[in-house]
Amino acid sequence: MTKASRAVASPRVVNIEDLRTLARARLPKIVFDYLDGGAEDEVTLQANRRAFDAVTFRPRLGVPTDPCDLRTRVLGFHVSFPALLAPVGYSRLMHADGEIAASRAAGAAGTIYILSTISGHRLEDVKAASSGPVWYQLYLLGGREAAEAALERARLAGFSALVVTIDAPVAGMRERDFRNGMKELLGGSLLSKLPFLPQLLARPGWLTEFLLDGGVPKLPNIVVSGQGPMPLIDVGAALARTAVTWEDLDWIRKAWPGPMVIKGVLTGDDARRAVDEGAVAVVVSNHGGRQLDCVPATLRVLPEVVAAVNGRAEVLMDGGVRRGSDIIKAICLGARAVLVGRAYAYGLGAAGEAGVARALQILRADVERTLKLLGCTSIAALNRSYVDVSASWQGS
Ligand code: GLV
Repeated sequence: MTKASRAVASPRVVNIEDLRTLARARLPKIVFDYLDGGAEDEVTLQANRRAFDAVTFRPRLGVPTDPCDLRTRVLGFHVSFPALLAPVGYSRLMHADGEIAASRAAGAAGTIYILSTISGHRLEDVKAASSGPVWYQLYLLGGREAAEAALERARLAGFSALVVTIDAPVAGMRERDFRNGMKELLGGSLLSKLPFLPQLLARPGWLTEFLLDGGVPKLPNIVVSGQGPMPLIDVGAALARTAVTWEDLDWIRKAWPGPMVIKGVLTGDDARRAVDEGAVAVVVSNHGGRQLDCVPATLRVLPEVVAAVNGRAEVLMDGGVRRGSDIIKAICLGARAVLVGRAYAYGLGAAGEAGVARALQILRADVERTLKLLGCTSIAALNRSYVDVSASWQGS
């Protein structure tokens, strides 16, 4: 057992915030801030979290709650509890095992892993690492031809659904990344890198692993014909080339005959449009507060989207989930399941696979405890009657 895996297994690690603290201690500032930060004033980043506090529970006491069934089905796939692992770009910078570690931990926990296009391990290896379903998240980085090639590889490798992210026509203004020199460190000249190097030297454990792993990874799932895997570029440059429009869905659907999920929906109108375009699920998401700042918290718009979709597709949500009770609240407000991003990525940054496993164990135990305290015996039995929303939300 490594020192990092011992740290995440400590009985003193009781919640996701504790894993965040460990990730902060192991990762250089540039990597931690990329993961932790949001756009501009981080208003939406904070609103996502706070929205959960505005929802209170209405427990039913004196009810037997054993056994308690945490399972649900997402697009027909059984999951052991209703949290999927969201696509997280640059995971291989958080830990050398990156997406492989996360996918393996997801499978072991009985849930689904969603692989980001901006990934450092080959999609075939990521799929092979998990004993459960793996989905592929698409950005158009590298252009249409590169995307079609990735989708064909994903289909052959056995990925079971495609998640198309529509909220990134350009990158949000993540000010922490600029200050930390992400652009210079990932793409600049040696001279321009110099002022930013001390933050890497301050984390010798991470730095040693990073160098042994070969330094800045390539993007092996974006292969531009004749040029090989695309080099890793900073997030601003990467997301400047990812715009997906409704028109693109025509060719994407031809290139991907399997189920398609649209991620990044924040209004009833866009949710309806996504379903009309063939989505079997939508993800209510503001990209974890990393794109347009000052859009509402996802939990707040979830009821509007659920009403608009009206049972024609499944509704998932992400943004600000740090506790099992957050997961239960989202389900009470109509989500089929949630996606967790930072919550597991803090674990990944803290200790690779062991950290992700710990994050999922914490969330699962939380979900079970919360259900029992609520007096409910299954995820399937949850509904709006178990929560009250803040009066200021009424009519929203
Ligand atoms: C990548 O998708 C990011 O939000 O950083």
